[in-house]
Amino acid sequence: MTKKKGRVFSGARPTGRQHLGNYLGAIKNYVALQDTYEDTIYCIVDVHALTTVETTSELKQNTYDMTLDWLAAGMRPDESMIFVQSHIPEVMELHTFLSMVTPLGKLTDLPTFKEKVRQQPHNINYGLVGYPVLMAADIALYKAVAVPVGVDQAPHLEFTREIVRSFNYRYNTNVLVEPQMVATEVPKVLGIDGKNKMGKSLNNHIELASTPKETQERVMQMVTDPQRARLSDPGNPDVCNVFTMHKIFSDAEEVERINDECRKAEIGCVACKKLFAKNLNENLMPFRERRAEFAQDPAYVWDVLNDGADRARVIAQETLSEVKEAIGLP
Ligand code: TYM
Repeated sequence: MTKKKGRVFSGARPTGRQHLGNYLGAIKNYVALQDTYEDTIYCIVDVHALTTVETTSELKQNTYDMTLDWLAAGMRPDESMIFVQSHIPEVMELHTFLSMVTPLGKLTDLPTFKEKVRQQPHNINYGLVGYPVLMAADIALYKAVAVPVGVDQAPHLEFTREIVRSFNYRYNTNVLVEPQMVATEVPKVLGIDGKNKMGKSLNNHIELASTPKETQERVMQMVTDPQRARLSDPGNPDVCNVFTMHKIFSDAEEVERINDECRKAEIGCVACKKLFAKNLNENLMPFRERRAEFAQDPAYVWDVLNDGADRARVIAQETLSEVKEAIGLP
């Protein structure tokens, strides 16, 4: 198959071991797009992380853990450039140039910014306001056409497109490229609370690299149909997050049976969750085995990141010099 021209770019904060939300919302597409696009570029955005982390002591370990997960999930470093954001400081330069075409009011109006203000009222730093501009710089630096992300990132993507348009208009150029968002079939994965987006900050997540026992424990805490108080009550799979997950990880026949039995109160939530935990663990077994293999050789993992940065830097420098020329800097 001939691959599409154009670059794919995505980034993720170094939050350590990845969870089902990261996987189903983004990583699945990082892997899949390697087969459809000529160039795929994936970045661990450590500078973005500085806007929220209280301490940086775990950044290195988190970067390593995340890279292990990415490799085990099927990201291929011989094809994809996988690197750490701060290793290519050109992105900070582009961020500054883009900030001049970005209205401040729009940044402070973004729902993602308002959410952060609610979450960390004691630390509303300048970097937090500029977070989406740095994200636009990440994407624009590589002239990416496609950006695989979960739906929570949609406002940022839309904003990136606006910034790119403003830049090109202001400097009468077409050097920057407007990217498209690429979503998976599960663009928003709910946490074990069945209510909020799965994420580390809410501790409602299930990590891919957990042991089977830890996974089972987390699954058993999952909230099911809230209307179903007793085993004898019929359930409604349509509003149950465990059922949503069954549809992803269990085979079609089993899904059909659970759907039917839940509605007739013939299967209870405990049995249903046990079954899901078993299927999830089976699904994740090859991933966990590959991860353990990569973990045997930490030097290889750091080599992947260094090599990725070396390749990405070439593109970054080229774009940046085009940008400076378009602006008219002496
Ligand atoms: P981050 O680190 O929060 O998440 C990484 C990726 O995982 C997706 N994701 C989810 N998808 C569905 N359901 C969930 N519960 C869930 N939790 C996380 C996110 O949508 C994301 O795709 N701002 C970005 C990082 C970033 C970036 C970029 C992304 C910086 N520069 C340039 C794309 C392009 C972020 O904080 O993702």
